[in-house]
Amino acid sequence: MTRDSAPSDKLRSLELEGAERRVRYDLDADLRAERSLGRTRAVLIASALLFAAIFAMRLAINDPSALVGNFYCVPIALVAAELGLRAGLLAAGVAIGLVFLWGATKGIHLGVLGYAARAAVFLMVGALVGRYSEARERDLASRRRSNAELRLRADELERSNADLRQALLRLEAFAQIARAVGGETDVERVLRLILDHGRGIVEACSLVICLRDGEQLVVAATTAGAVPGAVVPSSGSVLGEVLRSGKPARLVAGERALELAPGLTGQAAVMVPLVFRGDRLGVLAALDRESGGPAFTGEDEQLMAVVAASAATAVATAQSVAKERLRDSIEAAEQARARWARELHDETLQGLVGLRMLLSSARRTVSPEAMGEALAEAADQTKREIVNLRALIAELRPAALDELGLGPAIETLAERSGEAAGIDVSTRLALGDGDDRLAPDTESAIYRLVQEALTNVAKHAGAAHVRVEVARQNGAVSVLVEDDGHGFDPSVAHGGLGLVGMRERVELTGGRLEIASAPGRSTCVRATLPAV
Ligand SMILES: Nc1ncnc2c1ncn2[C@@H]1O[C@H](COP(=O)(O)OP(=O)(O)O)[C@@H](O)[C@H]1O
Ligand SMILES: [Mg+2]
Repeated sequence: MTRDSAPSDKLRSLELEGAERRVRYDLDADLRAERSLGRTRAVLIASALLFAAIFAMRLAINDPSALVGNFYCVPIALVAAELGLRAGLLAAGVAIGLVFLWGATKGIHLGVLGYAARAAVFLMVGALVGRYSEARERDLASRRRSNAELRLRADELERSNADLRQALLRLEAFAQIARAVGGETDVERVLRLILDHGRGIVEACSLVICLRDGEQLVVAATTAGAVPGAVVPSSGSVLGEVLRSGKPARLVAGERALELAPGLTGQAAVMVPLVFRGDRLGVLAALDRESGGPAFTGEDEQLMAVVAASAATAVATAQSVAKERLRDSIEAAEQARARWARELHDETLQGLVGLRMLLSSARRTVSPEAMGEALAEAADQTKREIVNLRALIAELRPAALDELGLGPAIETLAERSGEAAGIDVSTRLALGDGDDRLAPDTESAIYRLVQEALTNVAKHAGAAHVRVEVARQNGAVSVLVEDDGHGFDPSVAHGGLGLVGMRERVELTGGRLEIASAPGRSTCVRATLPAV
């Protein structure tokens, strides 16, 4: 297992790049030196041969005025052109020496003027050609150096461009991840988006997110073959080790392939924990580099840590939303139970107590008329209690919904609510024929929505009239409950759970809910649900 931090990796790679540049530069200089060494040798040999040939020619033909000797200028120029000023002057010296030698051999001398003129010509050729060649060589060398430098810079530029392109792609992927985390509440969808974009960021064959579930890890989302929901034992597994230590890890397979989770094997892996505010929620792992490239680096580990931070935020948000929803629905159920208890206590129980007192006093009555009256009153009261209990039972589980269907159940509900609150309720229901019923969940969501909206109208609106409309068309059901009461400000939290529950029920079916109201204005609750 190798562990090191990414910045030092990056630094090392920059240092290596610098060293490579220096070596290439030096190599270039050496190559140049080697090339000129071979040529220098050839030039020196050619010059020596020319000196010898010219000397031999002078010996062969009688040349007392050293006319043939003028040709010594050729090897002098050759040497000077190849080796520069000093070598040129040296060659001129050799030529002067050869002219002397010829004179000495033949016993014929040129005289002072003759020797001085020859020497001056030879030295001038050596000096001028040598200087010119040195200047040209310097020029060439600097041009070669600039060319080499230019090539090097072009390579570097190309590499930087490739890096920049990759960085841009990564940035784009990160931006998409950020958008996904910000705009989605469905954790599965968010995790999928994170994995899809994350795969491009680390250039891995597959990514997997495992979340902690009690003592074990469960595959929550994956781009590979592993089945979501597969269980990874947290002890003895590499993913479990990463979760426990809270530290990232990189692995390369030995003789056997790595197995991160059932059905998830590979040759190289990088794993980072998902941590949100100190809570270890799970592990994000990447397996095998795309196109079989080199193993994962510290830089990949760092990129994975950024992807993991987004994933951890998404998971934590989704989990806290789920917890909040659960808390809300438990509280709503608790409130409903409290209301039923109150209703049973205040209405039914009081009614029964009254009834018992009525019947006890009737029992003590001797007059048949009084007895008859008491019994009639008892029968009335029993009837009222039956109505009350029916209403309560209907609220708990509207029998009409199961037996008659949504339309009649809403008619009954509207009628009863209107009567109870003294409000005029008009209904317009267009649900098609009764044979094609909606899913039970959709029906009860619509029923509860209308029920809560009508309860609110009765409790809060101070309305005289309310309109209930339910219509099914084009694969959707639209629901509308509009009252002519005094309205309220829906943007202000009211502490009640009715509106929250309404919205949740509708959203759970994949629908939308809008509440249009303002103080002093009528209230309109409008929902659209998929007709499934
Ligand atoms: N139709 C309405 N007309 C006027 N005010 C309403 C209406 N519906 C809801 N409200 C306001 O919104 C608040 C929240 O409603 P709700 O969430 O159902 O809680 P609860 O009914 O338990 O108070 C109510 O207390 C009330 O002030
Ligand atoms: Mg309410």
